Amino acid sequence: MIQTINTIKALQEALKKDRKEGKTVGFVPTMGALHEGHLKLVDHASEENDIVVVSIFVNPIQFNNKEDLEKYPRDVQGDIDKLEKHHTNYVFAPSVDEMYPDEVTKHYNFGTLEKVMEGKFRPGHFNGVAVVVHRLFEIVHPDKAYFGEKDFQQLAIIRKLVETEDLSVKIKGIPTIREHDGLAMSSRNQRLTQEERKKAPLIYQTLCNASEKKNKETVEDVKRYVIETLNKNGFSVEYFELVDSQDLQPVSNWNEAESLRGCIAAFLGNVRLIDNIAF
Ligand code: PAF
Repeated sequence: MIQTINTIKALQEALKKDRKEGKTVGFVPTMGALHEGHLKLVDHASEENDIVVVSIFVNPIQFNNKEDLEKYPRDVQGDIDKLEKHHTNYVFAPSVDEMYPDEVTKHYNFGTLEKVMEGKFRPGHFNGVAVVVHRLFEIVHPDKAYFGEKDFQQLAIIRKLVETEDLSVKIKGIPTIREHDGLAMSSRNQRLTQEERKKAPLIYQTLCNASEKKNKETVEDVKRYVIETLNKNGFSVEYFELVDSQDLQPVSNWNEAESLRGCIAAFLGNVRLIDNIAF
C-alpha cells in the first residue's frame, strides 16, 4: 500500500524509521503524468533498494515558458494508481509553498555544460532543475536516485551537481523507453493532436537514419540532413547537435570524442519534444 505524503516533516519521519531498520532508499523524482518510462525507473529503484520514494512535483522554477507550465499534465491520483503495481512505498507530493517557503536565490554554475542545447534555449531551466533536485535530495537522502536518459543533458547536470556539492547519492541513468513506433515516452506526448502523434516518431527515425551516415558523410552534412528532413515534414527544429557524451560539447569531426550523442529539440505544433540517441 502506497503512503501519500505531502509534507517534508512527515516524509522524513517515515524514512527515519526505515533507516533505523537498516533499509536502503531509492528515489525517483518526477513531475507526475507518469508513463512507462517513469515506471521503469521505479522498477529499477525497487530492484536495487528496500524502500522506494517517488516524488510528484511540477516544479514551477524550471519552466521558462508560462504556457508550458500551465499546460503541463497533472493527475496525481492517476499517477498513484499506476504506481500501485510497481512497488512504491511513498509518494511525496508537496505543494509549491512546502518546497519553496522562501524566495529561491540559489545559483549554480555548471560551466559549459549549461551553455549548449537545452541550457542555451531554455535559460534558467537547469538552475531550476538543480534547485529542486538538490532540495529533494536533502529531504529524502536517497542512497540511489534514478533519471531517464531521454533528458540526457539533465542527467549530466545532475551528475555534476552531485560532484560539485559532494552529495553521497548514487545517480543511475536509465535508457529511454519508447512507444512501439519509436517515439520517446514523454508526459508532453499527451498534448499532441492525433495528426501530430502520427508524425512524431519521425524524430527517432531521422536520428536513426542519421546515425547510419556516421563516418560516411561530414558532421555538418548529417546535421543539415536531420534539420532539413524534420523541417520539411512539419517540425520546427530548435537544435540538433552532435556532442561528446561526456561533456556535451558539440563536435565538428566524427573522431573528436570517444562516444557521441545526437541530441534534438523540435516543436510539433505547440509541443516541444526532445530526444537523443548514441551515434
Ligand atoms: O525530469 C523531470 O521530470 C524533472 O526535470 C525533475 C528531475 C523531476 C525535476 O523537476
